[in-house]
Amino acid sequence: MGRNGCLMLFGLLMFLIEIPPTTQLQSSQSWALLRLQRMLNYPPFLAAWTGDNLSDVCSTDNPSATVVCYDESITQLEISGNEASPSRLPESFSIESFFVTLTGLPNLKVLKLSSLGLWGQLPAKIWRLSKLEILNLTSNYLSGYIPYELSFLTNLHTLILDENNLTGPVPDWFAASPMLTVLSITRNSLTSSLPESITTLSNLRVVRFSGNNLTGELPDLSTLTNLQLLDLDSNTFSSDFPKLQRKVTAVILSNNKFTGALPPDIGKYYLLHHLDISSNRFVGPLPAPVVLNLPSIQYLNISGNRFTGMLLNSTSCSNKLRFVDLSSNLLTGEIPICLNDSSNVKFEMNCLDATNQPQHKLPFCQINALAVGFGELPPVEKKTAAGRGGVICGAFAGGMALVGVVLFFGLKRANTKKENFTRTLAVHASYGFPSQSLHDSKAIKKAGRSVGISPYRSFSLEEIESATNNFESSALIEETRHCQVYAGKLKDDNSYITIRCLKMTKTVRIPPDLTKNIELIAKLRHRHLVSSLGHCFEYCLDDSSLCRLFLIFEHVPNGTLRTRISGDVGRKLSWTQRISAAIGVAKGIQFLHGGMMPGLFSNHTKSTNILLDQNLVAKISSYNLPLLCNEQEFGVIEDKIDVYDFGVVLLEIVTGKPIDSQDEIDATASQLKAEAQKQMEGHG
Ligand SMILES: *[C@@H]1O[C@H](CO)[C@@H](O)[C@H](O)[C@H]1NC(C)=O
Ligand SMILES: *[C@@H]1O[C@H](CO)[C@@H](O)[C@H](O)[C@H]1NC(C)=O
Ligand SMILES: *[C@@H]1O[C@H](CO)[C@@H](O)[C@H](O)[C@H]1NC(C)=O
Ligand SMILES: *[C@@H]1O[C@H](CO)[C@@H](O)[C@H](O)[C@H]1NC(C)=O
Ligand SMILES: *[C@@H]1O[C@H](CO)[C@@H](O)[C@H](O)[C@H]1NC(C)=O
Ligand SMILES: *[C@@H]1O[C@H](CO)[C@@H](O)[C@H](O)[C@H]1NC(C)=O
Ligand SMILES: *[C@@H]1O[C@H](CO)[C@@H](O)[C@H](O)[C@H]1NC(C)=O
Repeated sequence: MGRNGCLMLFGLLMFLIEIPPTTQLQSSQSWALLRLQRMLNYPPFLAAWTGDNLSDVCSTDNPSATVVCYDESITQLEISGNEASPSRLPESFSIESFFVTLTGLPNLKVLKLSSLGLWGQLPAKIWRLSKLEILNLTSNYLSGYIPYELSFLTNLHTLILDENNLTGPVPDWFAASPMLTVLSITRNSLTSSLPESITTLSNLRVVRFSGNNLTGELPDLSTLTNLQLLDLDSNTFSSDFPKLQRKVTAVILSNNKFTGALPPDIGKYYLLHHLDISSNRFVGPLPAPVVLNLPSIQYLNISGNRFTGMLLNSTSCSNKLRFVDLSSNLLTGEIPICLNDSSNVKFEMNCLDATNQPQHKLPFCQINALAVGFGELPPVEKKTAAGRGGVICGAFAGGMALVGVVLFFGLKRANTKKENFTRTLAVHASYGFPSQSLHDSKAIKKAGRSVGISPYRSFSLEEIESATNNFESSALIEETRHCQVYAGKLKDDNSYITIRCLKMTKTVRIPPDLTKNIELIAKLRHRHLVSSLGHCFEYCLDDSSLCRLFLIFEHVPNGTLRTRISGDVGRKLSWTQRISAAIGVAKGIQFLHGGMMPGLFSNHTKSTNILLDQNLVAKISSYNLPLLCNEQEFGVIEDKIDVYDFGVVLLEIVTGKPIDSQDEIDATASQLKAEAQKQMEGHG
């Protein structure tokens, strides 16, 4: 076609488009309207339709009834009752006849019949309205299943059946309706999961199923590349946060049983302006700096979940934010200053450092966070950080003869440093709880299996009482001012345990980083560590604060390394057994430094707190953690101290003599050094 042809066609098109809608209506279509009016029981808002002048109906404005015609035929019929919830039409109403009458308007593209009291099952005959593009039957009394025949409407792009009494499953014929862009069936009684076939609707922009009884897992919705609004409010979905494409603008999942954590890529939803996930079972750390800074976010509601984590007053917020509701979670820390002066910000019932909205006491959040962290998650694979401290194991490479030399220089270097250390409490926990915790709790369970011990868990007070025969004095094996250590036997599997009990008093309060500490303790699980099995909190009856904290560890029965090297109890270890004990200790230290995150350093490893089990496997029992009743100062973050202490243990192993003072260390070390030098000279 030439250029002129093109122009001519264009002109013709413009001419056609500018033809006004016809005002004259075929008489058969007028009669159809009158029949519909009668079936609707002559509602007052249709009083203007009379047999005399109905042929003008297409050109008359009526707010309750829009009729648009084209070529003497109705293409658009919109009738809205003005009551929000009209009464049902009388028993004599037949929805079958009503739709048969509607099929007398075969050119209908838009049909909206809202709040008219229509009742009955949506008739299969609806497929005869084959030109239908928009169907809106909001707020009637339609019941029963959604008919399969809707899928024959190949031009249908908007299907709205809100506020009816529809039952049965969400239709599964979506693959046959690829045109659908708006699908809204809210406030009905649909029961099913969301069918997989919905993922084929790549044109979908709006999906609304709020207020039904939908359940189960969501399919992967990331194939809905045009999805903007997802509203699943008030159902019983138990899925993880849905997989969505990144251009979504509104996500409403409130009042369901959604679980799991927020997706790690939530920050990439750059058009998201409305996020409501309130009243669900979401858990895990709230990435506050990310969600508060989503570029488009205006409304954020995460209330009524179990999000954990510490908020910082310095966190910034998107300047578009209008409504924020963080209430009823397990958040700690301070309200970000950017949220503080707005009356549209709710954060009550967390454990935040705030006085203007009611809060729980800190232990409430810490303890519940632990329950979330350990109680409910299935174990999942995780790669742990690769070990540091290869240095330690490397010390064995040259054989025991060289150990002395390596040690000597090692000792000397560490020694000069040691004097400068101010021994302050330093749990090397650079990770604010619980950014790692979800991940780690899974890893903990896994680690437990590999060590051959049961998963870390929380114990009940009854279990502890029964394991110690109600704290019988014969079960008490050690007592310090605030702390008792009991031996016990679990009734369910007859295994032996050690229970460390820490009493809270006026002077010993719950440490502010209790949670972090428990997190760390729960990671102490390794073949060469006296491994943690769980914990138990006992609450005071009066103010439900924490009264006693029990930490349960495995019981390691075969004495300390010292007694089996230089003591007079039991058989002394053979040389091979000593070497394997030394390797075990090295591996234990290596795990403490690099096998868990964050690492634990300066653990005060001594031959008196390395225990041997029934197979003479060496297990470290002292950790640089304040809750463990260890009579020790807590050292600085420094792996050299452990290497030094390990060196001293090696000296004891090699010489077979107890070494306690610095003088003894120095004397033994120089003696060994002299021996080693003699040997090296001897070898050339
Ligand atoms: C038809 O006539 C009635 C009264 O004669 C009038 O109120 C109504 O607006 C007219 N309707 C149309 C569509 O012209
Ligand atoms: C469907 O009808 C209801 C009731 O009149 C109205 O509120 C809603 O906006 C309509 N939806 C669409 C997409 O037209
Ligand atoms: C039908 O739905 C309406 C709201 O759309 C609701 O108020 C009513 O209770 C329902 N009736 C039945 C029988 O489910
Ligand atoms: C949802 O379904 C469950 C069982 O399928 C039923 O017990 C419950 O009453 C239903 N809830 C509603 C609001 O229909
Ligand atoms: C957040 O959601 C809860 C429960 O769905 C609701 O009660 C609350 O009003 C919402 N907050 C805001 C600010 O809209
Ligand atoms: C923010 O928190 C830090 C540390 O808790 C505190 O030193 C600082 O004063 C706080 N700033 C404001 C403005 O509250
Ligand atoms: C937040 O504002 C309230 C009053 O609006 C004030 O009492 C409170 O101290 C403020 N908190 C912080 C952390 O700035």
